[in-house]
Amino acid sequence: MDRKEACRRLEVCTGDITRLQVDAVVNAANNSLLGGGGVDGAIHRAAGPELLDLTRTLGGCPTGEARVTPGFRLPARWIIHTVGPVWRGGSQGEPELLRRAYRSSLELAVEKGVRTIAFPAISTGVYGYPKLPAARIAVSEALQWAQQFERILFCAYSEQDAAIYREVIEEFCQ
Ligand code: AR6
Repeated sequence: MDRKEACRRLEVCTGDITRLQVDAVVNAANNSLLGGGGVDGAIHRAAGPELLDLTRTLGGCPTGEARVTPGFRLPARWIIHTVGPVWRGGSQGEPELLRRAYRSSLELAVEKGVRTIAFPAISTGVYGYPKLPAARIAVSEALQWAQQFERILFCAYSEQDAAIYREVIEEFCQ
């Protein structure tokens, strides 16, 4: 697929990822998969307690890997839980681990036949990853997989974050 067509499949949206009508939403989880704050907390609240009942049985998830569960009460059919790196200055393998989190999520999505998927800005909240380099990793990895999806959404939580994604998409897709 050419770059132009891949670029057409990327979208930026703003707001609460739990409301999106997509086949899968990605959760920025932690190694325990037992919930937390940020987008993880929002997803657990919106999906309902059955989600925690299930994630308790999964035995956690190493950083950079991903696990899938049903969406339960979410409009999305699946939740793909991935764990991004904690930012420790950038020389502790963070970029590679973040890329791996995106890649593992997309790989699992393909296995499940997902055609539309939404990502939050993994690692850029509590985990402190700087937003611009994180968006560059998200967009460049998504472009590698775009052929296998109808739509890959970057769900920003604020207009400022959405602007970062738009700038990065412009950078890769001009
Ligand atoms: N929809 C979309 N994006 C959101 C939402 C939402 N409902 N809520 C927050 N964000 P974070 P991390 C954005 O902290 O940095 C949890 O406690 C937020 O503005 O949720 O990967 C986990 O259990 C930010 O841009 O995830 C882990 O312990 C982005 O989502 C830890 O936080 C990610 O912020 C993971 O930290």
